[in-house]
Amino acid sequence: MQEKINKHINDIENINIITSADAENFQRTYLGKQGILNKLFSEFKNLSNDDKKKSGKALNTLKTIAFDKIKNLENTTNATENNIKIDLTMPSNYQKLGAQHPLTNVKNRIIDIFNKVGFVFSSGPEIEDDWHNFSALNMPQNHPARDMQDTFFISLNPDTLLRTHTSSVQIRYMEKNPPPIRIISPGRVYRKEDISARAHCIFHQIEGLYIDQDVSFADLKKMIMYFVKSLFGKDVKIRFRPSFFPFTEPSAEVDIYWGLNSKTDYRITKGTGWLEIMGCGMIDPNVLENVNIDSKKFSGFAFGLGIERIAMLLHQVDDLRLFFENDIRFLKQFQ
Ligand code: DAH
Repeated sequence: MQEKINKHINDIENINIITSADAENFQRTYLGKQGILNKLFSEFKNLSNDDKKKSGKALNTLKTIAFDKIKNLENTTNATENNIKIDLTMPSNYQKLGAQHPLTNVKNRIIDIFNKVGFVFSSGPEIEDDWHNFSALNMPQNHPARDMQDTFFISLNPDTLLRTHTSSVQIRYMEKNPPPIRIISPGRVYRKEDISARAHCIFHQIEGLYIDQDVSFADLKKMIMYFVKSLFGKDVKIRFRPSFFPFTEPSAEVDIYWGLNSKTDYRITKGTGWLEIMGCGMIDPNVLENVNIDSKKFSGFAFGLGIERIAMLLHQVDDLRLFFENDIRFLKQFQ
């Protein structure tokens, strides 16, 4: 038996363990349940006392050598793993975070401001019909105001078009919900415009609608003041200019005074320091009647603002096209 044991000791010393499969194989052969060590220990039990004395020491040596071989292996792999792969004190890999698109960011800020005073989010489809985009908003067929918004029609059907403004959402909401109403509706709109630094065929608007009893123009002004102060700071200067929209009466446009501090200010405001940021007005009673709301009992106001305009001011972007090109060098600046 002693010879057998010595042969195994010799074998173990010469075994090269390189792969994990080698290690498993070694473990199974020598240390497994049916392995060589267990077999030798079973044989050992049946030896005479004399033989036990002779082989006992050698058997223990074999056991130690076999276990040490595996232990050393574990130590070396742990050492490499500790040093190279898992040093818990190392800073984690830096993951570059993406940035929110400036239009999304400005849109969310505007929605938050109106959420605070009870306006709820509502959206509508970008592919609209004539009723929601025009007729119900007091612009019947051949109404000259339709020319203000050059429309993309889809196929030859004049009833299917890309919405030219988010005012269509007003109609959709009022058709389904009785007053009181307070909604804020952001979205993409489309117009057949030549693309330039100041105009695009796609842009974004946010529509607001407020309907209740005894709503007045003073309420509208107060709401606009609240909004511009929240977004631009309390020292902001604005002006209301009388205007015309078929769906509001009276109507106004709101300009913000931005000043002429930079070249970009100069370009965006065409050298005046003023920039129009929204249209607004008291809902025309015809519009209320179109959606079966009693215009003797209820009144309200609406407003529509251009998100790009505001983003251009806030981020000093003097070319509208940059918002749509997704040039990584432009977007990276908003990280
Ligand atoms: N829909 C108008 C436009 O696209 C903007 C607008 C003006 C919306 C007045 C309104 C409003 O709700 O009351 O030019």
